[in-house]
Amino acid sequence: DWNSGNVIADQVERIRAQIGSGRVLCGLSGGVDSAVAAALVHKAVGDQLVCVFVDHGLLRAGEREQVEKDYVASTGVRLVTVDARERFLTALAGVTDPEQKRKIIGREFIRTFEAAQAELVAEFAAEGDPIRFLVQGTLYPDVVESGGGSGTANIKSHHNVGGLPEDLQFELVEPLRTLFKDEVRAIGRELGLPEEIVARHPFPGPGLGIRIVGEVTEERLETLRAADLIVRTELTAAGLDAEIWQCPVVLLADVRSVGVQGDGRSYGHPIVLRPVSSEDAMTADWTRLPYEWLARVSNRITNEVAGVNRVVLDVTSKPPGTIEWE
Ligand code: XMP
Repeated sequence: DWNSGNVIADQVERIRAQIGSGRVLCGLSGGVDSAVAAALVHKAVGDQLVCVFVDHGLLRAGEREQVEKDYVASTGVRLVTVDARERFLTALAGVTDPEQKRKIIGREFIRTFEAAQAELVAEFAAEGDPIRFLVQGTLYPDVVESGGGSGTANIKSHHNVGGLPEDLQFELVEPLRTLFKDEVRAIGRELGLPEEIVARHPFPGPGLGIRIVGEVTEERLETLRAADLIVRTELTAAGLDAEIWQCPVVLLADVRSVGVQGDGRSYGHPIVLRPVSSEDAMTADWTRLPYEWLARVSNRITNEVAGVNRVVLDVTSKPPGTIEWE
C-alpha cells in the first residue's frame, strides 16, 4: 500500500543512515526530480546539504531564474550557481552523434561538480568537513532504460546513470531510485513544494543539447529557446499543461526545406512538436492537441523565430519512438 508519507519517513531514515554527519552536494536541474530529491535530503540532513545549479547553457528560457528565485524561496536551501556555458559548448563543438552528446554532457556535468566540490571543500576546510556525497534524482525508469534493471538492454544512456565517469569521487545518494514520476510528484506535494515546481513537465538532464538534431551551437540554441518558449507559453495560456506529460520541441538543424515567407523564398529549418501523453515515460502516445492550438503555435513560430520556416507534428507513439529525438 503506497503512501507518500511512509516513503518520506523511510527515505529520511535511509538518507540519515547513509550520510551520517557528512556533507552532501546536490545538483539542481530545474526539474521536479532533482528538486524533490534535494528537498528530501534537506529534510533529512538540513544544512549538511549544499545545492549546486549548473548553467550548462542547454537550458530553456527563464529556467535559471526559476531555480535561483522560486526554488530557493520555497525551500531555504543553500544554492551555488556555476556558469559553465562556455565549457559545455566547447566540449560539444563538432559533435552530432546522440550517444556521444549524452556522454559528453554527462561527463562535463560531473566534472563541473568536481570543480564546484573542490571550491566548496576549500571553503569548508576550516570545519574539516569535506563533501563526500552526491544526490542524484534518478528514477526507476532511468535505471531500467540504462540497463540497471532486470535484464533490460541499454536503450539510451541517461546522463544521470550511464554517463558517469569511472573516476567519480562521490558516493551517490539516490532517494528516488525506486519511484515513478507520479510518485515523485506526490512526495513533492507532501513535502510542501510549490505546485509550479511539482507539476512541472519533465525535462532531460542533457537539456536542449539532445533536442537539436545536429551540432549544438549558441545560435541554434537561441533558435530552439525561442520556439520552445512560444510552445510553453501557448500550452499554459490554453490551459493544456495538465493534458500532456511533456512536449519536447526539437530543432532539425541539419534539415532545411524551401518555403515562401514575406518577400520571397526561404530555406530554413523545421521545428518538431512532440506532445506526449504518458503515465511513467516508459510508454507514451502522441497527444491529440486541438487543431486551432497547433495552427496558432505554427503561425507564431514561423513568424517570430528567425531561420524556422516549417513546423511539424510528431505522431509516433512510444514504442517505437522514444519521447526525445536523441
Ligand atoms: P525517452 O526519450 O527515453 O525519454 O522516451 C523518457 C523520459 O526521460 C526523459 N529523459 C531524460 N531525463 N536524463 C534525464 O534526466 C536524460 O538523459 C534523459 N533522456 C530522456 C525524457 O524527457 C522523458 O521524460
